[in-house]
Amino acid sequence: MAESITITDNRTGESLEIPIDNGGVAASEWSKLMPGVWFYDPAFMSTAACESSITFLDGEAGILRYRGYPIEELAENSTYLEVAYLLLHGELPKPDEYEKWRNEVTMHTFIHENVRKRFLEGFHYDAHPMGMLVSAVAALSTFYLDAKEIFDPDSRAKQIIRLIAKMPTLAAAAHRFSVGMPFVYPDNSLDFAANFLSMMWKVAEPRFEPDPILAKALDTLFILHADHEQNCSTTAMRVVGSSHADPYSACAAACAALYGPRHGGANEQVIRMLTEIASIENVPAFIEGVKAGNGRLQGFGHRVYKSYDPRAAIIKRTADEVFTVTGKNPLLDIALKLEEIALSDEYFTSRKLYPNVDFYSGLIYQAMGFPLEMFPVLFAIPRTAGWLAHWQELLDQDSKIARPRQLYIGPEARTYTPLAER
Ligand code: CMC
Repeated sequence: MAESITITDNRTGESLEIPIDNGGVAASEWSKLMPGVWFYDPAFMSTAACESSITFLDGEAGILRYRGYPIEELAENSTYLEVAYLLLHGELPKPDEYEKWRNEVTMHTFIHENVRKRFLEGFHYDAHPMGMLVSAVAALSTFYLDAKEIFDPDSRAKQIIRLIAKMPTLAAAAHRFSVGMPFVYPDNSLDFAANFLSMMWKVAEPRFEPDPILAKALDTLFILHADHEQNCSTTAMRVVGSSHADPYSACAAACAALYGPRHGGANEQVIRMLTEIASIENVPAFIEGVKAGNGRLQGFGHRVYKSYDPRAAIIKRTADEVFTVTGKNPLLDIALKLEEIALSDEYFTSRKLYPNVDFYSGLIYQAMGFPLEMFPVLFAIPRTAGWLAHWQELLDQDSKIARPRQLYIGPEARTYTPLAER
């Protein structure tokens, strides 16, 4: 017999049986029995807002899979572009499909000269690169008017390729501008991550040759950040996408959501925290301060992971490889001590607070020379694949516009008092 629940409206005595499908009960069924009574669920703590076949996450068991493939296997064997294809198409590409996909993305890495010269260079000299990225992604919608044809398969595919291809170019351009360096055009003979490093760091050499260990590490970090089901930015993408806005506008909204310190800004906060702690001796006192309510242990805790974030475990190994090239990040020892103490402290274990993806990623980025302001930008580059996969899925589901209800707690109706009489 199928699983179900039965609810009873105690005001009327009426009952209704609702089936449990895929671990959820349909709120529309509930509303049949109790129209006008809403689920009160701020921050969507208990609400599944959609059905999705992209990413599976079991936060209790620490499992993350893209389209069924364990994140560990993808990080070990795959490339970011292959994973982006998987997220968007549902299957890993065959060799010819991969070659076509890689070629198409590579051929779309250039941005319109006006985006750089007139738009990006119009920012104030100390503009935050993430603020520049959010705006530049939105501005792309004004360059590609065909993007409004969201139900045209050719147009949709073209915008997806453009967005994935141009994100690293915009990201590097934002960085170069913020440090007063000239823009570096994409080098289409390099692969995705290596080309990004070239656009970031190239100075006067004819051709930038990134260290293969660093390029590989960055590609692995891109894989780990490519999707994470219904997180804050993906939800923003889906909500804006549900109004049938073009994908650049929806992606800009997702980028904006990622900007916040509770989401994509967390690894920047981790480095600030480690820098403030300054030495291993100060770790116990810092932990006591967190327990007493003086701020949070950045890079710890997660809305859905109630065990070790599987991405954090992979990142820890990647960090070791990166440090063989860059030298150890001096903040690493503080981070390891923090983790050790927190994982044996009742405050953290009872609340199931473990390191998340951001605890170690910032250490890698910093060792590779990225300024702190670039950290959320580095997150946005690969997450674009996930955002677009969800956007596409949403449109294919013929979904309604996102429009939650509220429980009104304001004043009752009252009469307007003219200004002079108040
Ligand atoms: N340090 C200390 N205490 C914490 C922390 C932390 N990092 N995170 C949660 N808690 C405590 C919190 O004080 C609360 O305790 P109590 O029940 O006594 O009031 C309890 O744990 C539950 O916290 P919550 O705020 O209800 O949990 P949440 O699911 O709403 O928040 C979170 C999740 C990620 C926003 C939060 O854990 C946090 O602020 N972590 C630090 C920031 C961070 O690392 N963010 C990156 C998230 S992973 C990357 C991404 O997906 O974008």
